[in-house]
Amino acid sequence: MAKEVRRIGVLTGGGDCPGLNAVIRGVTKPAQDYGMSVLGIMDGFEGLVEGRAKELNDEDVSGILSRGGTILGSSNKGDPFHWPVKKDGKIIIENRVQNVVKNYEAWELDALIAIGGDGTMHISQELGAEGLNVIGVPKTIDNDLSATDQTFGHDSAVFVVSEALDRLHTTASSHHRVIVVEVMGRYAGWIALHGGIAGGADIILIPEFPYSWDKVYEQIHKRELMGKKFSLVCVAEGAKAIGEKMVLKENDIKRTDPKRLGGVGEVVACNIEENTGKETRVTVLGHLQRGGSPTPYDRILSTKYGAYSIELASKHKFGRMAALKGSEIKHVSIAEAIANLKLVQEDTQTVSVAKSVGISFGI
Ligand code: F6P
Repeated sequence: MAKEVRRIGVLTGGGDCPGLNAVIRGVTKPAQDYGMSVLGIMDGFEGLVEGRAKELNDEDVSGILSRGGTILGSSNKGDPFHWPVKKDGKIIIENRVQNVVKNYEAWELDALIAIGGDGTMHISQELGAEGLNVIGVPKTIDNDLSATDQTFGHDSAVFVVSEALDRLHTTASSHHRVIVVEVMGRYAGWIALHGGIAGGADIILIPEFPYSWDKVYEQIHKRELMGKKFSLVCVAEGAKAIGEKMVLKENDIKRTDPKRLGGVGEVVACNIEENTGKETRVTVLGHLQRGGSPTPYDRILSTKYGAYSIELASKHKFGRMAALKGSEIKHVSIAEAIANLKLVQEDTQTVSVAKSVGISFGI
């Protein structure tokens, strides 16, 4: 008979986002009922490699439901299979998985709940192959994990974008300007698409649909002819014009994904001003989208994910990730979860509805 699960490790990997604490709470509160203890691992996989952790009990998670960030700390640089070390002034990459196995055994863990996005799930999958019992919980404002209908954190980010667009609307219309809002999302356009629709953007530019500059200018002229002397453009950080490359801030080999995106908003604003003659401004929302209190939707989703993942552990469902399917949380294999990125498709209802209310994708 399989060994009973008595002790669970929990970590938060990758970029922080609203709802992480709600998941930690959702894992820790029911643990007692399962006769389990919970060990919180600090700073994502970094703490797992370096052996940094603390016990979590009811008191530690009380009052954290509405708090942004993560009480455990997080990092997008702690991949145990790709661990950068400085030697003789040069950065070399080492494999530190043996540290992970050693700590997992020393802490007497029976399972590990890894809360994170695409990068965290890839590492979780590899740790499973090393014999660790890993369960995944899908986090990311980007909403780009294909095996779940929604990741937690996305709704909170969309709320920020929508509110920002509402606020910028008034300046854009009072000053007859174009305002470009750059949002996050990496290689997926979900934040721009959902935030743009919710905030009434006139143009939404996303990585999945390379845009034509002429179509972008045409939309602004079209609105001008209709007497609408302002426009709001919501551009995803990964969006690119036809034949052009994504705009990068830097390449950092210490990160799980070395590419740091950013800067496209400025490029779009400059081109619009130059080619339409309209005064144009840019606002980069950046980490505002990852901060603050989770929306009620994210609090509920995160709590469900947390409680469900500890149930999965009790049933020995390892190598699985909690996933929203319709209105129910189910489980899928982590391998399935990382097989493909979830990207916006052109022939979907959301895109056609956006077009039907006059939004241009520059295509
Ligand atoms: O994956 C979440 C995310 O916020 C992306 O949307 C963005 O590209 C990236 O993380 C930013 O990472 P960092 O905070 O490390 O700059």
